[in-house]
Amino acid sequence: MPFEPTPERAREIEEIIGRYPNKQAACLPLLHLCQEQEGWCSDDVIAFVAQRLELPTSHVVGVVTFYTLFNQKPVGKHQLWVCRTLPCALRGGESILHYCEKRLGIHDGETTSDGLVTLRSAECLASCASAPMMQLDKDYHEDLTPERVDEILMKLGANLR
Ligand code: FES
Repeated sequence: MPFEPTPERAREIEEIIGRYPNKQAACLPLLHLCQEQEGWCSDDVIAFVAQRLELPTSHVVGVVTFYTLFNQKPVGKHQLWVCRTLPCALRGGESILHYCEKRLGIHDGETTSDGLVTLRSAECLASCASAPMMQLDKDYHEDLTPERVDEILMKLGANLR
């Protein structure tokens, strides 16, 4: 089914396009806005953005596949990104990722069967001084320990193993 933005988003799309000297420059903000509505960048979202910005579909696909913040498949209600870059790794980032995998019963890149959480590893999230850290949706959680991870996941209502 073709992607149809909500009336509010349709207005925002017009406003965003008007901000830039050329339509192509609006590609990133439009994809974010559409992903916000759909939860991911489906083929229909990509086709909508390409058509709206008069870009080849391949250009929009290139943008979606380059940036990890664009979801290429449906994701859970919440997204959990565990940093795996060196400063976090030196302070136990990998153990935190494995702990999340164990507690949620999924692997990196997977979504819990109830659709609540998608777990992902991420490159540096720019909070190295408080390593190890993870991002839950738009919030940072820092200086993590397994106990802190449990608190965060329980607050989320995750079905822990
Ligand atoms: S290395 Fe983890 S936030 Fe920078």
